[in-house]
Amino acid sequence: MERALQIINKLQREHDAGRDELIHVLKIDDSKPLLVAADKTRERFVGDEVHLRGLIELTNFCRNTCLYCGLRAQNKNLKRYHMSVGDVIKTARVAADMGLKTIVLQGGEDAYYSLEDICYMITRIKEFGVAVTLSLGEFPRYAYKKMRQAGADRYLLRIETTNKRLYGKMHPGLSFENRVRCLGDLKDLGFETGTGCLVGLPGQTYDMLADDLIFFKELDADMIGLGPFIPSPDTPLAHQRPGDVDVALKMVALVRLLLPDINIPSTTALGTIAGDGYKRGLESGANVIMPNMGMGHYKKLYSLYPGKMAGSPQQHLGNAKNIIRSLDRRIGTGQGFRAVSHSCFN
Ligand code: 5AD
Repeated sequence: MERALQIINKLQREHDAGRDELIHVLKIDDSKPLLVAADKTRERFVGDEVHLRGLIELTNFCRNTCLYCGLRAQNKNLKRYHMSVGDVIKTARVAADMGLKTIVLQGGEDAYYSLEDICYMITRIKEFGVAVTLSLGEFPRYAYKKMRQAGADRYLLRIETTNKRLYGKMHPGLSFENRVRCLGDLKDLGFETGTGCLVGLPGQTYDMLADDLIFFKELDADMIGLGPFIPSPDTPLAHQRPGDVDVALKMVALVRLLLPDINIPSTTALGTIAGDGYKRGLESGANVIMPNMGMGHYKKLYSLYPGKMAGSPQQHLGNAKNIIRSLDRRIGTGQGFRAVSHSCFN
């Protein structure tokens, strides 16, 4: 334990650690000192505000076949939908009227929306005075550029795992190099860029998770979302063991210590796998919640994994606010960009 405490101290001071040190900390049994250190660092760098991002899941069509994901193209047991462009804009309007300052458009990789459609939605939603985050998968650079020019502020694209072999196994037909290319382009085009990984994929090791952390740091990601792998029915991984919540929380904490001023959501996967998952995420370094703005019939169909909470947008927002208040934290009042607090090394 003594070595672990030394590494945690160093992380608090220097926000850096070597691969072996990260692996050592990932393996500790008593995660408490790590989570407490991350919570302190969160408070020091990004304060007590928790930012809310209204999540609109616009389509569950997907051309990809990721082994873990319930939306994979081969899943014939899923009723598919896309929201019309008009419905997306209307839903965003409702979310903005509810006080949300960021709208996240997330969906499977679905050719239904043309680049013009996507840019049109961005432009219209920006009129509501909100930040717009996209999470629509891989595109060529020119498409990302158009989205940025249309006013999109942020983009989420998880690397899922940085281990090339595991990446290849989990994502038939996708290329690891292209995913890294996408992230580089997004950064370069001035998006606040988010990435992240799944924790507890079959075959994943602590060494691989340490490499994921190093990748996040080297990319200087502006947002990191991660959560435990949850086996999804109608996927090849349906009968595998779920990811460990404690390891996922340790990852959240290590991300906070390595990248102290970024935005880190307490993710839906965390909130789904454990009753108090959102709360524990917020106590381990996270400072964002993404309440679901979907209407009932759509939301049920957006089944990346089972067990997602039912409820109206109002209920999801209310639930998030209650969790924030129960922790004596405050609800974010601005658009919640990455804190410009690089000078905050007091
Ligand atoms: N368990 C946990 N997270 C999942 N995702 C997809 N399928 C699963 C699953 N079975 C995550 C991926 C993706 C994000 C939108 O959802 O990491 O990037």
